[in-house]
Amino acid sequence: VKITVYRNAHDLASALAEDVADRLSAKPTLVIGLPTGRTPLGFYREIVRLAREGRADFSRATTFNLDEFLGARPEHATSYRQYMERHFFGQINIDPGRVHVLDGGASDARVECERYEAAISEAGGIDVQILGIGSNGHIGFNEPAASLNARTHVARLRPETRRANAAMFGGDASRVPARALSMGMATILGARSIVLMAIGSGKARQVEGAIHGPLTTRLPASFLQIHTDVRVMLDRAAAARLRPGRRGTCAP
Ligand code: GLP
Repeated sequence: VKITVYRNAHDLASALAEDVADRLSAKPTLVIGLPTGRTPLGFYREIVRLAREGRADFSRATTFNLDEFLGARPEHATSYRQYMERHFFGQINIDPGRVHVLDGGASDARVECERYEAAISEAGGIDVQILGIGSNGHIGFNEPAASLNARTHVARLRPETRRANAAMFGGDASRVPARALSMGMATILGARSIVLMAIGSGKARQVEGAIHGPLTTRLPASFLQIHTDVRVMLDRAAAARLRPGRRGTCAP
């Protein structure tokens, strides 16, 4: 695991945007796994800026989002699909046919999950999977539990996750769907490279566990330790509990 600690969230976001732009230049048909949440907003802002400056060309790229609320149709204002349209897809030159987001409104969720796995395989797998981390250590919607799902599945959301997503629902956690569709751990770990970002002191304990702790289904992000190409990008607050010698490099 290669860890980089940035002075602030803005520096982190622009470093990740530069990194994705470089990967796109090296491979214009890049397959990118994408997260939602507050953490990636700066990254989307920066990569959109690079695209406008002609430094990131998404015309041949393919994307797969990590997760979606169950019951959220793509046109729903509170769907992750709409979040993505607003912050990213609607602002870049990506081919809509190469954009993949789980359909929370699908009539058969299980069929939708299978379709998604097949689409990822058909695209040749994910080149780079970008991740945030939940305040309980989840990645995607793979929640802490006695066991984890390998593949894309219907996930039951924990109360703290519904609270963390409440802002999208007028601050009312009870309006956050209780279930979601999510890539599984093997789907995520199947990506050729992974970038995990975390911002703020609220993530410090989970980042510490993910990097120093044992592999445990109680902290799903700890499974990233078994992947051979993981980059962890943190601001100082999220890195605060990392032990000396394991803090990795500091950004200049
Ligand atoms: C959400 C998403 C995750 C995201 C995480 C952190 O529930 N399902 O993909 O990484 O929680 O969100 P935030 O960045 O807002 O802290």
